[in-house]
Amino acid sequence: MEPFPEDIFTEPDNVDPDTLANLGPLRRLAGVWESAKGVDLNPKADGPERREFSERIELQPIDAQANGPQLFYGLRYHTHILASGEDATFHDQIGYWLWEPATGLVLQTLTIPRGQVAIASGHAKPEDMSLVVSAERGQTEYGICSTAFLEYAFRTDSYRLEVTFNADGSWSYVSDTMLMVRGRPEPFRHRDQNTLVKIADPNPNPLLQLRAKAGQGLGIGSLRKG
Ligand code: HEM
Repeated sequence: MEPFPEDIFTEPDNVDPDTLANLGPLRRLAGVWESAKGVDLNPKADGPERREFSERIELQPIDAQANGPQLFYGLRYHTHILASGEDATFHDQIGYWLWEPATGLVLQTLTIPRGQVAIASGHAKPEDMSLVVSAERGQTEYGICSTAFLEYAFRTDSYRLEVTFNADGSWSYVSDTMLMVRGRPEPFRHRDQNTLVKIADPNPNPLLQLRAKAGQGLGIGSLRKG
C-alpha cells in the first residue's frame, strides 16, 4: 500500500515562509560555491579521459511548494563547469534539491543541456553529515530520460550522487553515472568529484523578500490568490 493520504487535494496550512529555516539536511548546501579542483572521468573513443575542472554552483532557496498535502522546501541550483585550460563550457546543469520534512525524502532533479533529465531520490535526517540520491533508467518515479541518440550511443543506466558535509563548512560530492557505450561489453563508470567552498551566502527566498519589503505576513495560499 502506498504511504499516501486519501485526501490528495488539501494543502498543508502550516507552511513556513522562511525556506532556509526548513531545509533539513539541504540547509548546508545553500549559497554560492566554487572549486578549482574537480576531477572528471568521461568516455572517449580511445578509452577513459581524465580531466581536471573548475566549478561554480549556485543554490538558492525557492518558496515552499506543495503537491496537495505533500510539502517541499527546496533550492534551485545551477552548476557551471570549465575544464582546465578551456573557455567553452565543459558541463552545465540546472535543477532543484527538494526536502520533504514529513518523510525525510530528498530529491535532486537534473537537467543537462544535451538532452537528458533525471529525478534522483534518497532519504536523510536534518543532522546527517552525508546524503545519497540515486536514479535508474526505466523507473517512472525516480528515473532517467535521455535523447534517442544518447539511448543509442551512451545509454545511461543509473546515477548516484553522494554528498558529504565537511567539518570546515565545505562539502564534497562523488557522482557515478553508469553508461553503456555502444560497442563496449562493460558499463563505463563516468565519475565526477569535487569539494566546494562557499563564496557567498544564499539570498532569502522570494516570499521572504516580499515580506521584508511589505512588512506584512502572506501565507502561501494568499500569495497565489493575490
Ligand atoms: C561534474 C559533472 C559532470 C561533468 C564535468 C561531465 C563531463 C562530461 C564529459 C566531458 C563528457 C564527454 C563528452 C564528449 O565526449 O563529448 C561526458 C559524457 C557524458 N556524460 Fe557527463 N559530466 C558530468 C556529469 C554527468 C551527469 C550527472 C550525467 C547524467 C546523469 C552525465 C551524463 C553523461 C553522458 C550520458 C555522457 C555520454 C554522452 C556524450 O559523450 O556526449 N554526466 N560528461
